[in-house]
Amino acid sequence: MITFKNVVKRFGALALTYDDYTFQRGRTYLVLGASGCGKTTLLNLIAGVTAADGGQIVIDGQDITAQSPSVRDRLRTRRIGYIYQDFKLIENMTAEDNIRVLEMCGVRSDGLSELAKRLEIEDKLKRKVRTLSGGEKQRVAIARALVKSPDILLADEPTGSLHFEIGEEVIKKLLECAKGKLLIAVSHDTRLAAYFDAVIDLTAQGGHKNV
Ligand SMILES: Nc1ncnc2c1ncn2[C@@H]1O[C@H](COP(=O)(O)OP(=O)(O)O)[C@@H](O)[C@H]1O
Ligand SMILES: [Mg+2]
Repeated sequence: MITFKNVVKRFGALALTYDDYTFQRGRTYLVLGASGCGKTTLLNLIAGVTAADGGQIVIDGQDITAQSPSVRDRLRTRRIGYIYQDFKLIENMTAEDNIRVLEMCGVRSDGLSELAKRLEIEDKLKRKVRTLSGGEKQRVAIARALVKSPDILLADEPTGSLHFEIGEEVIKKLLECAKGKLLIAVSHDTRLAAYFDAVIDLTAQGGHKNV
């Protein structure tokens, strides 16, 4: 379970304030909102990529805002699968080597072939990422996030670079793979709302303040 309480993130004069949220294990959440409203920052805060300037973010009883960056990095590496908006794949490496990349940090890649089958990228595993289409890269990024069996899955604009029909397919696959986990996806696309257990509209909440 993840809870937000009075969370604030500052970028210079800009203060992003978040409402109090509870994200439950086994449920899927879609966070909606216009560009610039703080969706990516919300995921970065949960992933510990960025630190909050106020409030608490508690993940399974542990207040990560009280932890050092190295503790947050460890938590992310072990327990959080993060599908970045720009994928952050290494283009000159094969899909499979990208998916296995955390083995360097001692993280196991269990069930890779089953996952590749489910995401329909089995025949792409030996290909260099740079030769893959946007939808294929998206699915490789999903596989990389899932292969370490995280209990928390974060997805930033998972359909952002795709045509809507392909994006819908990717969402269906993502949800299938996320069963039993906590999934938080963020998007500006309201058409995705029907697929998720709960929808949070960031635009209507919290706020931006120039202080
Ligand atoms: N590293 C940063 N430095 C300065 N401003 C930032 C940084 N990251 C985000 N912001 C600002 O915070 C706001 C929210 O950004 P972001 O979370 O990326 O929004 P979204 O993902 O909803 O488009 C924007 O106004 C953005 O310009
Ligand atoms: Mg964003």
